[in-house]
Amino acid sequence: MDVLIVGAGVFGLSTALELTKRGGYKITILDRSLPPVVDGSSVDANRIIRPDYADMTYCMMGLEAIKDWQNHPLFRNHFYPSGLLLLGPSDSMYRDASFNNLSVMGSPCTKIHNTEDIRRIYSTWYTELKAHQRGYVNQISGWADAEQSVKSVANYLVQQGVTFVCGPSGTVKKLITDDDKVVGVETMDGQNKSADLVVLAAGAWTASLLPEQQYRLLTVGQPVGFIQLTEEERKRYRNYPVLLDFESGFYSFPPTRDGLLKFSRHGFGFTRTKEYENGKKESVPPLLPISSTTLPKEAEKQLRTCLHTFYGKDISQRSFKKTRICYYTDTADADFVFDFHPKYKNLFLSTGGSGHGFKFFPVLGKYSVGCMLRELNIEYLKKWAWEKPDLKEFKLDGSRTGPLAYEYDPEMFKPLSELNSA
Ligand SMILES: *[C@@H]1O[C@H](CO)[C@@H](O)[C@H](O)[C@H]1NC(C)=O
Ligand SMILES: *[C@@H]1O[C@H](CO)[C@@H](O)[C@H](O)[C@H]1NC(C)=O
Repeated sequence: MDVLIVGAGVFGLSTALELTKRGGYKITILDRSLPPVVDGSSVDANRIIRPDYADMTYCMMGLEAIKDWQNHPLFRNHFYPSGLLLLGPSDSMYRDASFNNLSVMGSPCTKIHNTEDIRRIYSTWYTELKAHQRGYVNQISGWADAEQSVKSVANYLVQQGVTFVCGPSGTVKKLITDDDKVVGVETMDGQNKSADLVVLAAGAWTASLLPEQQYRLLTVGQPVGFIQLTEEERKRYRNYPVLLDFESGFYSFPPTRDGLLKFSRHGFGFTRTKEYENGKKESVPPLLPISSTTLPKEAEKQLRTCLHTFYGKDISQRSFKKTRICYYTDTADADFVFDFHPKYKNLFLSTGGSGHGFKFFPVLGKYSVGCMLRELNIEYLKKWAWEKPDLKEFKLDGSRTGPLAYEYDPEMFKPLSELNSA
């Protein structure tokens, strides 16, 4: 069977990995560039790997994925089990549910009531917690090198006979449909590619390829920043855990070997709305890869406040070495989508990462293909269905804080070169 997978991010690659394991599929993966795709949400230095979830399904999947991050030959060299410090205000329901779920699953964590509790595990912990901040440490969590793990899987797939098509002939302009079927895709070079099955795994670009999707998916940008540490600071923070603060949405990683501190906010994000000729509007990422963008003032201010809390005044006032807007696709309840499109019977959607997909890279394909072949039980099929009649509002999963998604000045999203010549 000829399968076209649109998107070489973790949803597309992991689905290909599972189909390859099953055998009998002739797979072609399309994307704008070779993976790791420069402006995708599966690039750069690191991603949080955690089973820490209020939702039991993701908690269980997270524990399953961590086993592969620890042992699987394609993943284990790219996983760093630094531990995770998960904080929240005293009444954080998400944190408490996550703590309880992990205990139930036999993977207990250590409660943190104050700074001393942290220093017992991370002796170089530097700043003081505020009185209302508490949480726990999960020592099996950590982070993964996003680019290297994506490369590792892509290389393996090439060896397994999967074809990658990139550049203009890998950039999908639209789906070609015929009545209730998708017959193929049209690419930027004006060519058409046909297939028996099309898997749409285009991350933040998915919504723009799906006609009449009606905000089932919403593309949002999230602010990411990098600060250069001095050698002394790098040593101080080298043995830090990944930090995730559910009060502010702020998260950060232990510094890279070159002393780069990466931090971001798991918030509601900002939209970038484009109006099409037919009057339809859609939030879409910019088409050109952007190496550096200015963050919205509000986001920069909040990130700096959090840097002050967790890394002290000095670092919080330093200029950013690099900033980036990371685009991903939210679904209304932050559940992924693994389902056939209701109108096009051979269009399978493997998308809706909602900013929490990467950690599941080793197992996403198992669930995606499990839904595709209708092997999983009905609870899973319902959880990841495209049509969810009870889902009336965009409420996500209770893990986001900060300002609600807002439209951000599209001028700011132009490539720097274009801004400079304007
Ligand atoms: C996981 O946490 C949720 C939220 O607190 C709770 O409803 C659920 O019962 C927990 N699951 C288990 C198996 O304890
Ligand atoms: C590609 O498909 C579209 C839509 O079916 C059609 O209009 C177009 O002529 C095709 N282009 C090529 C190069 O075959």
